[in-house]
Amino acid sequence: GKSGYDHYMLKEINEQPHALRQCLSGRVDELDGRVELEELDDLIEDPPEAVQFVACGTSYHAALYGARRFRDRGIPAQAFVASEYATEVPPTGDRLVIGVTQSGETADTLSALREARNRGVETLAVTNVVGSTAARECDHALYIRAGPEIGVAATKTFSSQLVALNLLVEGVANGPRSGVRPRSDGVRGRLAALRELPGQVQQVLDESNAAEVARTYLDSSGYFFIGRGYNYPVALEGALKFKEITYEHAEGFPAGELKHGTLALVTADTPVIAVVTGDDEIARKTVGNVKEVEARDAPVIAVTDGRSDVERYADEVLEIPKAHSVTMPLLANAQLQLVAYHVANELGRSIDKPRNLAKSVTVE
Ligand code: F6R
Repeated sequence: GKSGYDHYMLKEINEQPHALRQCLSGRVDELDGRVELEELDDLIEDPPEAVQFVACGTSYHAALYGARRFRDRGIPAQAFVASEYATEVPPTGDRLVIGVTQSGETADTLSALREARNRGVETLAVTNVVGSTAARECDHALYIRAGPEIGVAATKTFSSQLVALNLLVEGVANGPRSGVRPRSDGVRGRLAALRELPGQVQQVLDESNAAEVARTYLDSSGYFFIGRGYNYPVALEGALKFKEITYEHAEGFPAGELKHGTLALVTADTPVIAVVTGDDEIARKTVGNVKEVEARDAPVIAVTDGRSDVERYADEVLEIPKAHSVTMPLLANAQLQLVAYHVANELGRSIDKPRNLAKSVTVE
């Protein structure tokens, strides 16, 4: 049942701290600075030189994040929309193709994974469903352990995918278990950040003002979500969740790209939801993009870890705690899930079963 929540989606948003703990449970040796992924022992013994991700929808946004994590650890990685994968020229050389699929049954993703296997490439399924087609057909499977998700909109499975991908990248990038390479503090810092994450997500859920913010911007003509770096997949995911359950027009952009055309649509009637976190050059540039839309009178809703410069331009602030750069996107995403939920709820939408959508898409 919905355990007292009005919708499964809200229940599942609130289950995220528990889901993330499940995903991490028994898999992290923080002292030693390594992850234990028994099911992937073979892969970690003989890590790939490069990886390609294939996925759809929300799982594709997780894949964009995952590919960036691999590149940050020095492993070449790209993410593909699964239905486009077969149209791409295959690269040569040792690589692993990773299908990110909550259900493990998405036809486009299964077909991209089959394409990879036909080309003789090793495959890994990152999935929530034990014994799913993706898990059975791939050479390896990594389970995200999010528990069942009933709402059509993917929420806790997205967060669990991001955490599982962090475990995967630390396993693969830190190489064979023989442990000849010294563990860096960087690894320990990231593993500690993962441990702290469920509590931080809980804090966001407990303290969020997303319901009030949602009520302020119900009849806008469109919604633009922007973010840069690790917050770019968050912007895409924020917009997808928003349009999926509110039926309002929303688009996600890399923050710097909005000015290259779409700025023509930005008016006082198009709120811009900007995800701006951290205190580096990346965040500073996004603040510049926020100024551009503010100058066109767009209401600005900032998701930020307390950056005063962006708060100055923002009409509304959705605050998140300061966190590591790899876990921050999950905190920002929790705020965006709540914004989408509350706008959809105010508009009386069919939140758990949006029109035209099914939980798993089994046709190409
Ligand atoms: C959006 C959503 C979809 C799925 C996509 C892939 O909320 O749920 O975009 O993410 O259809 O599904 P899986 O992960 O089952 O392959």
